[in-house]
Amino acid sequence: MRLSSIQLRISGTILLLLLMWENVACVPRCVMKDGGCQKVLSWMFNMTSTTAETISRISSDTLNEFDAQYDPGQKFLNRPTMICHTASRSIPNSKRKAERMKSVDLLNVTIRILAAWKNLLYHVKNNMADLDGTPYATTVKVEFLDGQIKRLTKHLQGIKTILSQVHPELKENENYPAWSGEPYVQQSRRGIQLFGLHSLFFCLHSDAQKVSDFVSILRHQIVPNK
Ligand SMILES: *[C@@H]1O[C@H](CO)[C@@H](O)[C@H](O)[C@H]1NC(C)=O
Ligand SMILES: *[C@@H]1O[C@H](CO)[C@@H](O)[C@H](O)[C@H]1NC(C)=O
Repeated sequence: MRLSSIQLRISGTILLLLLMWENVACVPRCVMKDGGCQKVLSWMFNMTSTTAETISRISSDTLNEFDAQYDPGQKFLNRPTMICHTASRSIPNSKRKAERMKSVDLLNVTIRILAAWKNLLYHVKNNMADLDGTPYATTVKVEFLDGQIKRLTKHLQGIKTILSQVHPELKENENYPAWSGEPYVQQSRRGIQLFGLHSLFFCLHSDAQKVSDFVSILRHQIVPNK
């Protein structure tokens, strides 16, 4: 197996971290030992930031690519966008507001935004299937984003598990609401369908930017100077 040969070559410490990462139930032990878990958290935030930045970049590419193919005249950009399904008063709409939130609440909000994109791939695949011009490159990107969103959620939940040792108010295994499958794009008229997909990618891009900002704020608050 490829994974085991990689594991053999990495140091014991990193291997231990990886094992803890895979089994987050073990993570809290590091809190007891050094009272901080700063090293582990710092390592987790490094991966988390990288993933969040990747999602932000690829979702921006996806929106641009989709618009270049289906809206070369840039008419969509001048129309008011549909209201994003994640629009909510509990999600801060500026970096400054996010910075004023408690870390545990901001972490909660960030995980909730990601949960709302749980069905992204399903909806996009369903709705792009009958578009001409085979938006293959876009579908591949969406598939990649779907995987990265799941990965980022796992990272953040790992961080939450550690923090819940000192913040018992952070309940574990909460259920976060997913996108209900709001019929953005289930439209028979092609123009409306395309505008729906444009709006979907626009919302994804805007949420990805927020998530990336929130992760960087959280990192700064939780592991300063790292
Ligand atoms: C993660 O850590 C590596 C090695 O220390 C560093 O080069 C990289 O820039 C870090 N990435 C982020 C997003 O902080
Ligand atoms: C996190 O969000 C969920 C869902 O909205 C909410 O029920 C829960 O109370 C929140 N937890 C904290 C610690 O804010």
